[in-house]
Amino acid sequence: MLKIGNVKIKKPVIVAPLAGISNDTYRKLCLEFGAGLVCGEMISDKAIYYQNKKTLAMLDFSNHHPSSLQIFGSDPKTMANAARVVNDVDCDILDINMGCPVNKVIKTGAGAALMKDEDLAVKITEEVIKVSKKPVTVKMRLGYDSKHLNYLSLAKKLEAVGVSAIALHARSRSQMYEGQANWEHIKILHENLKIPVIGNGDIKTLTDYINHKDDCDAIMIGRGLLGNPFLIQEINAYEKKKEFKVISYQEKFKVLLKHTYQLIKLKGEDVAIKEMRGIGPHYLNGLYNSSVYKTKIAHMNSYKELKEILKEYEEYLGDKQ
Ligand SMILES: Cc1cc2nc3c(=O)[nH]c(=O)nc-3n(C[C@H](O)[C@H](O)[C@H](O)COP(=O)(O)O)c2cc1C
Repeated sequence: MLKIGNVKIKKPVIVAPLAGISNDTYRKLCLEFGAGLVCGEMISDKAIYYQNKKTLAMLDFSNHHPSSLQIFGSDPKTMANAARVVNDVDCDILDINMGCPVNKVIKTGAGAALMKDEDLAVKITEEVIKVSKKPVTVKMRLGYDSKHLNYLSLAKKLEAVGVSAIALHARSRSQMYEGQANWEHIKILHENLKIPVIGNGDIKTLTDYINHKDDCDAIMIGRGLLGNPFLIQEINAYEKKKEFKVISYQEKFKVLLKHTYQLIKLKGEDVAIKEMRGIGPHYLNGLYNSSVYKTKIAHMNSYKELKEILKEYEEYLGDKQ
């Protein structure tokens, strides 16, 4: 069993933070499927401090554990202010984002830009740890670009100031999401730190999990769970030496409808349906002739329409699957 600070992680899969996706509904769904820890989408330090209605909703971590809330920013003072607010949130871990590659975040000096300024990254982490009542973790990339892969040097400094775990997405900032995650670096980090190392990048199947589980203390999965939270069950079954049955398309449709229904309860139908236009098609991955129906889901306008699309697809599939 893995421990991050005083938080016990009893199951092997850690669900990665995905902006626009890892909301309350998604986190709860992944916990129901047997995740060991669920991470929330990144929230700006200033937004947390000057809470508006949207941020308040993002700070609702009630009734699902273990969970981690991620903050991003570039100023030690405002990051510490955010950490003070997070003390009263019902999450278990506070994570600092040092991996976000998008320009909007990089321009502010936050996310992966912090990997270019180790002193600032350490200062921010120190200030956050000083005020946080929760274990503080950091999620980073290998470095800013291929010429500056400084993850080991930064992680060692962060370990020295009291970080409880490091999650490493094994790509540089300049790689964005291109190429393959390089797990050799995760192994190196694991060999060199005493605190837990969470490995992340391109885990999409049980075989990927088996190939990399010993490279680190826990595996974090992001895109590989989209439309496939069943992978968590498959990994748990493998670890317990239990049989795992192939998931039927009916079961996939049931979970897609549940995911959508819960998201509607959280955000209202308009917003939820817009978000599920992007997420929903993933539930059809690998199914026979799914592209037509994926396109329909990508353009749907209501929950009723989603149900009709799935019914039509079910009739089409019959016993083809
Ligand atoms: C749509 C999307 C949103 C993401 N949002 C976040 C985020 O809010 N915070 C973060 O640390 N990483 C974020 N990431 C990065 C993922 O957490 C993860 O590190 C990356 O996708 C690699 O893992 P994977 O191959 O398992 O998806 C995001 C990635 C994607 C594709």
